[in-house]
Formats: sequence, structure tokens, C-alpha cells
Amino acid sequence: MKWSIGNKYRRIEDVSHEAMCALESKVSQCPWRQTFHVQPITGLLNDPNGFSYFNGEYHLFYQWHPLEPVHGLKYWYHTKSTDLVNWENAGIGIEPNAYFDSHGAYSGSAIEHNDELYLFYTGNTRDELFVRHPYQCMAVMSPSGHIEKLSRPVIDRVPNGYTDHFRDPKVWKEGNTFYAVIGAQRTNKTGCVVLYRSTDLINWTFEGEIKTQLDPFGYMWECPDYFTLQEYGVLIFSPQGLEAEGDQHQNIYQSGYVIGDKLDLSHKRFNHGDFQELDRGFDFYAAQTMLNPEGRRIVIGWMGLPDMEYPTDKNGWAHCLTLPRELSIKKGKLIQKPVIETHTLRQKEYHFQDAIFDEIKSYEGFSGDTYELISEFENGNASEFGIELRAGKEEKTVIKYNAITKKVILDRSLSGKPVGLDYGTERSCAMDADQIKFHVFVDRSSVEIFVNDGEEVFTARIFPDQTSQDIRFFVKNGSINIKATMWDY
Ligand code: FRU
Repeated sequence: MKWSIGNKYRRIEDVSHEAMCALESKVSQCPWRQTFHVQPITGLLNDPNGFSYFNGEYHLFYQWHPLEPVHGLKYWYHTKSTDLVNWENAGIGIEPNAYFDSHGAYSGSAIEHNDELYLFYTGNTRDELFVRHPYQCMAVMSPSGHIEKLSRPVIDRVPNGYTDHFRDPKVWKEGNTFYAVIGAQRTNKTGCVVLYRSTDLINWTFEGEIKTQLDPFGYMWECPDYFTLQEYGVLIFSPQGLEAEGDQHQNIYQSGYVIGDKLDLSHKRFNHGDFQELDRGFDFYAAQTMLNPEGRRIVIGWMGLPDMEYPTDKNGWAHCLTLPRELSIKKGKLIQKPVIETHTLRQKEYHFQDAIFDEIKSYEGFSGDTYELISEFENGNASEFGIELRAGKEEKTVIKYNAITKKVILDRSLSGKPVGLDYGTERSCAMDADQIKFHVFVDRSSVEIFVNDGEEVFTARIFPDQTSQDIRFFVKNGSINIKATMWDY
């Protein structure tokens, strides 16, 4: 069977069981399959959807095109977990099989109401002329896990002033009222977010556009998410169409946030600071948050980007989600820490402490392709220091600090099979600090690096050879003290 773009809207039932099994087996042989990240069994994963806690479990859905690693007909795939790190596949959550979602069950969110989980998503449709008509739809999941769609969309038109790029509802509750933000494009081709209100999740009133100080700011805002944290209002969204500027906006599209006063719901006014990117690496998009039962605000992102090719495409699959990260606010910035539950993944532990001078050095036990590593660098006068991860004869993925320019730099120019070369091979951001801590999670084809307890995060897919497993610490032009602990995963 041929898998071609011409069949983009093909449905899973149009493909034989044998063809699906063959694809699954091809995917499972790929050396870049992840071991502790959510990834699709076949085909393409993109945005996290419906991230929630319901009936004693975390639920996490994602955008899924099962049949090939392209953005074809999208389903919601369902995964669940009791601890945010061990996820169990639960099968298809929402199938695009109704008149209001015929060309894809697009992104959305979930909220508990009357002991059921309401899944609020965008139904993507195309008419005979291939013109897009988005609907905002609702499906309801019972405690037993059965999901039933409402027979009609809950929002069946795009308000005047906006184009057919109108999607990704994120719902929350304040008092007895439900609110939802939706990502939109104005008819003048600029991006924004609009607000809806409801008392029952079924009947929605269009409240209008949220007035921000980002106007204009790109041509489309995807996947908005509004929440309050430590008395602030935070709006996360993924704007498209920003120009790269210095270290900022280097990826094809961005995913970031603004922090401000709580959203003034009656005037739909949001006073906020500058837009800041959530992640400083190469592969991060469409972030979504949830509030867990203990009151922790947790974000998860798609470890990938739209409109890009990845080396696993030829193995029949693409992309994964990031680790979940707990959010807090410090000095006007979101701080992101890997959820504490990642500790349950820790196996054998290794440790060293050393003072090194102008050299590159490896340590007993420090190697691998699936691990967590915390290394602290201090009391040095070196101009540059860092770590080579997934290093081999010719390959290495480098995270380093330049003490002269005061920048953290992630270099994937030698990481293995190239990805997104048009967008460069280095990412960096400013950090003025005497001590640097790199908290690293390495999986078979990714690195996630939390710098100085989550002040910045660098996420990247990498596609090295399986044999590239060395970890090397290096210092240039001077000395540094290093303390490191690593756990096999
Ligand atoms: C973001 C996005 C969303 C849309 C979904 C479709 O990556 O384009 O705006 O709902 O993906 O898969």
C-alpha cells in the first residue's frame, strides 16, 4: 500500500488491518522511538488536547493522524495516567465522523461538569470548493470512559470580523460561569483571541475580542490558554507570523505567553507585559495547561512544529509530547520545572564532583540514551563550559554557557540527522548568573534542558546514531567546579 499526500483525508477504517499492522511494525523498529514521552503508535501527533484530571486519573488527548506522518485527517487520541509520567494508551477519543468535524477533530480542551468530562474542540470542515468552515463542538466523556458527541456544534458560526481560522477553544470556570478563549484571525489577517461565555457549556455567548497590547502581532494565534497563577493573569498562545529578532522567534512559529493583571472579563481587557517564549529550543508548540487536584498548574507542549519535516517521517511516524512541567511566576516570568513525579522514573544513580581546567572529560557511569542528569557549575573563571550529550565519534548535542556573552546556547549542528536546517542549528538566550545548573532529560530522540531551576527551558528533537551515548563535560579558558548526578531511566 502506498501512503501519499493525495490521501490526506483517508480514514482509519479505509485501511486494512494488515496495512495498519505493517505500519505499526515499521514504526516500532525505528531507533528513535521514545521511551518516556507520549508518542503515537503510528502516524503523526501534534497538539496536546483536553489535558485534565477526572475520575481519579489524568487525561491527555492529542491531535493524531494515524495513517502517515502528515497533517491529514485529525482524530483525538486518548491517553491516561495516575502520575503524569506513565501514560497508558486508551485508544481513539474523538473520531472526525460528523458533518461538523468531517475534515478533522481539531484542538481543544476539557473541563469536568456534573460528574462528566466535557471535551470542547474545533470541528474542521471543507465544502465542495474546499473552503474551510470551523465549528466549535462538544463531546462528553462518562466516568467509564465512554465518549459521546453532542449532535450539533455548540458554536456554529464565526462572528463577523474574523476569518475561517477560528479554532482551539480552551475552557475554564469562574464562579458559576464558564468562559472559553478561541484563537482567531481578523479579516485584516492579524491574530487575536476572542472570548465566549456560558452557564451550561452548551449555550455560548460571543463576548468579543480580548484587548491586548499586542496589536498587530502575527497573522494567527493558535491554541490560546488563559489561567490565573499567584494572583496574575497568564495568556499562553502560539502566534504565527512573527519575525525573528536576535535570539527571539527563531523557530518557524512561536509558543509563548504574556503575564499581567487578571483578565478584566467584563471589559475583556488584559493589561500585560511583553510576550515571552515558553521554550528557547527548537521544537515546542501548542502548549496547554491544566490545574491538578493539588492546585499545581501544569503545562505540556507538542515537541514539534507545523510545516516541518522530521527524520522519522520515513519510519511512518512523527513527533511526541514534552514532559509535563509545573509552572510558577517569578519576577514577571513563568518558571517551568519538570513535574516532581519524574522522580519515579529514576533508576540507577551516579554521582561525581570535580574541578576541571581547560579540558573535556567523561566520568564513570555517565553515558546513555535515556536518563536524567543534573549538573551544577560554579566558582569558575572559564570563558565557556558545558556538556556534550549523545556524543559519539562525530556526533554531539551541546548545551553550554558562555560567561563572556552571558548566554546559554544549545547547539544541534552535530546532533545526527539534520532537522529544520532552514531555521539554523543553534538557539541561545541571555542569562546573567554566577552559577549555572543544567537539568537535562535525554530520551532516544530528544533533549529537554531546564536551566537554573526552570528560568529557561531548551527543548529539541535530535536524531543521533544509537551508538552516540557519551556524556562529556568541558571547560574552556579557565577552570570550573562541577557537581553532577545522573539517573538511568
Ligand atoms: C496547531 C493546530 C491547531 C489546530 C490543530 C490541527 O498546531 O494548527 O490550531 O487545531 O493544530 O491539528
